[in-house]
Amino acid sequence: MPIEFDPKQQVFHLYTDGMSYVIGLIKDIYLAHYYWGARILTVHAASKWRFGPRPNTPTPEYPDLTLHLDTLPQEYPTHGRGDYRPPALGLTVLDDGVSALKLAYRGHCIERGKRPLSGLPAAFVTDEAQATTLTVELGDEAVGLSVELSYALFERFNLVARSAKIVNAGTRRLAVETAMSASVDLPHDAYDILHLWGAPLRERMVERQPLAPGTFRFGSTRGASSHYHNSFFALLRRDATEDTGDVYGFSLVYSGNFLAQTHVDHDLSVRAMIGIHPFQFRWILEPGEAFQTPEALLAYSGEGLGGLSHMLHRFIRQHVMRRPFGVTERPILLNSWEAMYFSISEDRLLALAERAAEAGMELFVIDDGWFGERNDDTRALGDWTVNLEKFPSGFAALAEALRSKGLKLGLWIEPEMISPESALYREHPDWVLRTPYREPVRSRHQWVLDLSREEVVAHLMGVIDALLASAPIAYVKWDFNRYLTDVWSRALSAERQQEVAHRYMLGLYRLLAHVTERHPHVLIEGCAGGGGRFDLGMLQFMPQMWTSDNSDAASRIFIQYGTSICYPAIAMGAHVSSVPNHQIGRVTPLGFRAHVAMSGNLGYELDLTALDASERAAIREQVRLYQEIRPLVQFGDFYRLVDPFVTRDRASWMFVDEARREAVVFYFQILAEPNSPVRRLKLKGLDPQALYEAPELGFVMSGAEWMHAGFALPTLASDHQSLLIRLKQVP
Ligand code: DGJ
Repeated sequence: MPIEFDPKQQVFHLYTDGMSYVIGLIKDIYLAHYYWGARILTVHAASKWRFGPRPNTPTPEYPDLTLHLDTLPQEYPTHGRGDYRPPALGLTVLDDGVSALKLAYRGHCIERGKRPLSGLPAAFVTDEAQATTLTVELGDEAVGLSVELSYALFERFNLVARSAKIVNAGTRRLAVETAMSASVDLPHDAYDILHLWGAPLRERMVERQPLAPGTFRFGSTRGASSHYHNSFFALLRRDATEDTGDVYGFSLVYSGNFLAQTHVDHDLSVRAMIGIHPFQFRWILEPGEAFQTPEALLAYSGEGLGGLSHMLHRFIRQHVMRRPFGVTERPILLNSWEAMYFSISEDRLLALAERAAEAGMELFVIDDGWFGERNDDTRALGDWTVNLEKFPSGFAALAEALRSKGLKLGLWIEPEMISPESALYREHPDWVLRTPYREPVRSRHQWVLDLSREEVVAHLMGVIDALLASAPIAYVKWDFNRYLTDVWSRALSAERQQEVAHRYMLGLYRLLAHVTERHPHVLIEGCAGGGGRFDLGMLQFMPQMWTSDNSDAASRIFIQYGTSICYPAIAMGAHVSSVPNHQIGRVTPLGFRAHVAMSGNLGYELDLTALDASERAAIREQVRLYQEIRPLVQFGDFYRLVDPFVTRDRASWMFVDEARREAVVFYFQILAEPNSPVRRLKLKGLDPQALYEAPELGFVMSGAEWMHAGFALPTLASDHQSLLIRLKQVP
């Protein structure tokens, strides 16, 4: 088994071909972190740590003056007995207010496979042989507390999925205040942190900065993982690059409030953790109750950031996205939003569908505006019945009309929301997430439903079941256009109000589990005012995400590049829209827009009926080309070649299939430079021995030559020009 326990040294060694993760017991009590990185064959635990007296440092195992929690690398640290760094677990005994904890080892078990997490999305196996799980039980006898730390090691990935279950095994009531999914103490070294930050319309911008002594933290308290900070970060050894060096990735399988935190201490070791944000979080455990944290994925690459991305992309497709969506091709869609906004009707849409079908598209998505009195964004959220004035034949007939043109039907919904002006609100004013004191804050004129309540979730299950039964609907775009405010639930007592934000997520996951189990073949594309909930929790149920509401191709290069650090191209909804672009007014050529969108999950979102014949012919050709390269883009390895965050004016990336027989390279000139220097592009990921032909360039070179010597790019005359180069192995 790739998880071994050495009873003599009291060490657990979790290993794959490329990675070792080593933890062990100190004095039979404390669960310490020994090593995480490239595979080692032997473990000599005593060589990893130096004990000795330290000035002014508490010693929890008195009279032993050599052990200090403040400097001991630990796996699930607590506060109160001499570790002054940020804790992974914080709780209070409600009867007496005690919060100083001592977690001591109680036992462990190692088993084949991996268990699902109760009520939460998590990485899964399709065969027991794919993973082995170590569960270590720690406990605080005096408090009546038990903590089960779970480590699922995926054997074909250098990756451990961690989570913690906090159990009240005593007789007193406990309040959990901090419960990270994972915490690791990495030894003294110089690390950079790379994280993805942004805002609506410019999500997941890449930031790499050195870690310095002190705490660096980011997260979300908005009730969703958010546009502003993604629930992912990487620690890179300072000399690590895109292609070389040690990189450690942390990604949370959760979509609500989260905290990502690093702390460089006086020993210059780094504590890194990720989990539910402790702000306004407090979960009460009655005797016998348990709290399960979300899961965090901890991935190691010895091959730089690019190596980390390859592994995460594959892992997400195979072990995070629900089957069959991580392993089957996605349809090319036409979305009505930017084509028509709220001015939709059966006739107008059928005319648009005619053009979509002519172009060879495969799915026709009716966005916002099809239901209730929804003629603008001020009303009708909650009234999920088709507006028969706009769609007199209903959706079953429309689906049939689309089917006859070779198109499937997709629909937009935003089920978590309610408009003050809606039949649902008139019927259930008490279902809104709000405090008893005042009207809740509006955002986009709407309020949020209280999904922490069972009856609200049950209602939504019924509504979505009925909708999906009403017509053959192949796809749903599930939107979420505002963050949570006025977080308070009338269904919970005063002392449990800080559970609401997480209970909301549990309600949402229950709803999504129901919908995806009942309707397993409906593809759900997630959206949160664009990419405001682009995280692994959502990707489990919604295997593609509308990457951003910004559909401008030049902006999208940055957004998709940043997103690619953690998430695979198959997850990124990417549409060709009209010019001038509706978000920032930029005019770019159709071919440039298509090349950017083809680098993700291709769709179109423009009025095809307003285009001339040559534009329509170009789109038909783009669709045909994407259908050819789709397996490469959606299942190939993604290599970043030129970083737009460095150059600002150009970018490049490529996709290579697993067998390294084929590749497709994209090069984007965002801004032209007069009399520009000769730019040479070096490729990656090819077989160095094999010969590859590039018909677009007209030459054949060995993989080694493409990668090491590269080739001079043709001159591109103006702004917003792009190249698509296909490579095929020749005998
Ligand atoms: C926000 C989404 O991001 C858009 O694509 C569109 O679906 C609108 N909502 C519809 O209201």
